[in-house]
Amino acid sequence: MSALTQSTTWNSLQRLAEGLDGQHMRDWFDADNTRAEQYTVDACGITLDYSKNLINSEVMSALQALAKQQQVLEKRDAMFSGGIINHTENRAVLHTALRNFSGQPVYVDGEDVMPEVLATQEKIQAFTHSIHSGEHKGYTGKALTQIVAIGIGGSFLGPKIMSEALKPYWVEGVKVHYVANVDGCHIQDVLASVDHEETLVVMSSKSFTTQETLQNTLTAKAWFLAQGGTQQDIAKHFVAVSSNIAAATEFGMDPDNIFPMWDWVGGRYSLWSAIGLPMALTMGYENYRAVLEGAFEMDQHFQHAPMEQNLPVIMALLGVWYVNFHAAQSHVLLPYYHYLRGFPAYVQQLDMESNGKSVAAADTKIDYATGPVIWGSEGTNGQHSFHQLIHQGKVLIPADFMLPLNVPNQDDTHHAMLASNCFGQTQALMQGKTYDECYADLDGKGLDKETRHALATHKTMPGNKPSNTLLFEQMDPKTLGALVALYEHKVFVQGAIWEVNSFDQWGVELGKVLGNQVLDKLVNSEAELNFDASTNQLIQRFRNAN
Ligand code: F6P
Repeated sequence: MSALTQSTTWNSLQRLAEGLDGQHMRDWFDADNTRAEQYTVDACGITLDYSKNLINSEVMSALQALAKQQQVLEKRDAMFSGGIINHTENRAVLHTALRNFSGQPVYVDGEDVMPEVLATQEKIQAFTHSIHSGEHKGYTGKALTQIVAIGIGGSFLGPKIMSEALKPYWVEGVKVHYVANVDGCHIQDVLASVDHEETLVVMSSKSFTTQETLQNTLTAKAWFLAQGGTQQDIAKHFVAVSSNIAAATEFGMDPDNIFPMWDWVGGRYSLWSAIGLPMALTMGYENYRAVLEGAFEMDQHFQHAPMEQNLPVIMALLGVWYVNFHAAQSHVLLPYYHYLRGFPAYVQQLDMESNGKSVAAADTKIDYATGPVIWGSEGTNGQHSFHQLIHQGKVLIPADFMLPLNVPNQDDTHHAMLASNCFGQTQALMQGKTYDECYADLDGKGLDKETRHALATHKTMPGNKPSNTLLFEQMDPKTLGALVALYEHKVFVQGAIWEVNSFDQWGVELGKVLGNQVLDKLVNSEAELNFDASTNQLIQRFRNAN
């Protein structure tokens, strides 16, 4: 048994969870008209109403005691100050340096990295301006208005989803096309939709070794040359973002067109680095910079707000409460804003690639639950599919609802309907509908007693289902930056409590290695098949079909 699950704090939380059996949130709201106010916090343009959770002041105090016991604040300070906290890769974790507007230095191996960070931001700004002004043209003299952004995972999700979320801020006439999967139909569709003379390819790969990204870039290069471009023209139409400058140069990227990134920025945290270049090209550098400024404000909040008012800490502790003391195995994100529809997918990588671990930092096996499955989609769509299970299923699924109070070009009727659904869902999840209420509703329907009883039983809604509601004045660049940083720090706090290394991702390596071995057998149809019988037959069927 681990020290964590043997600790007094852990055991008191177990007792508190048991003590909540038979209690209902509905009664807590009836008994205390200050509950909503007591469990609502504002910071960085985000309002968090966490009153519709299975908590009371005793539970919150015990959760905060757990955070203290697990030295969350000390681990936080170690991250911000460049400590080698990614111990399996012997790296610092300093994505926060990329949005550090404090004017203070940040040291890695004794060297202040801020000059290089700021120089790269200036390079992004100058390049973005040169593209938008038409100063940097294609080889036939045309402005480059079609951006093909190639990358995958953290080298794709951030720019794509953040650009989508800020569609009202896009630069007129510029269109960015994101390509990630190695499935050829995606890159072919994109290349068929653009004119090579007007196209800039941004290849993003921190390692410069990711199979999908390299293959897609080779295909884009072959397309460009087939369309009439020459090797000399590549420099005008291809740029790269990578920490592997040597490999990018060897690939044929012009050294002047390589935007650097650093080992102390993890892939899923690299949105803030030059990986964000497609965002700057989509919305202009100023808006891109505002996203960083919003994240910086959330960093300041995370570093200085007291634990009881600290949004990342609160959200992290609520997640631990459900995962470790209520057996929740997933957490659903429900953005009630069409442009934020990709946010669940972004947090999926951020959370599951960080805390989907089973070994503690002390290199010991873990005997408690860690990172949950993260999923979700835009509201109100989910109400017509998976919300049924959240309301009446047998598993507890904590939910994060999010809604901008104002949207650009607002249609008041549509927006009020969206908000009413968002609020109505959180209310239904919390209060449910009792058997007696359902039975009474069936009065006067001409049903016999037995049928009325059966139907009331099926229609009963247990309620007591937890949710957070996050409200924003509007989803502008700064608010988006703060929102992303909020979830980054929530994941950090949970990883600190669970004692996992939230910054490596060894679990994705084996699949890549085996995939390459299978690839060899697919491209060489005579090669002997020496895998397990299932993989061998799958390869054989592929060979037969091709
Ligand atoms: O999925 C593993 C991973 O390394 C992610 O962490 C990363 O964001 C993605 O692959 C892409 O890696 P790269 O930027 O090195 O191409």
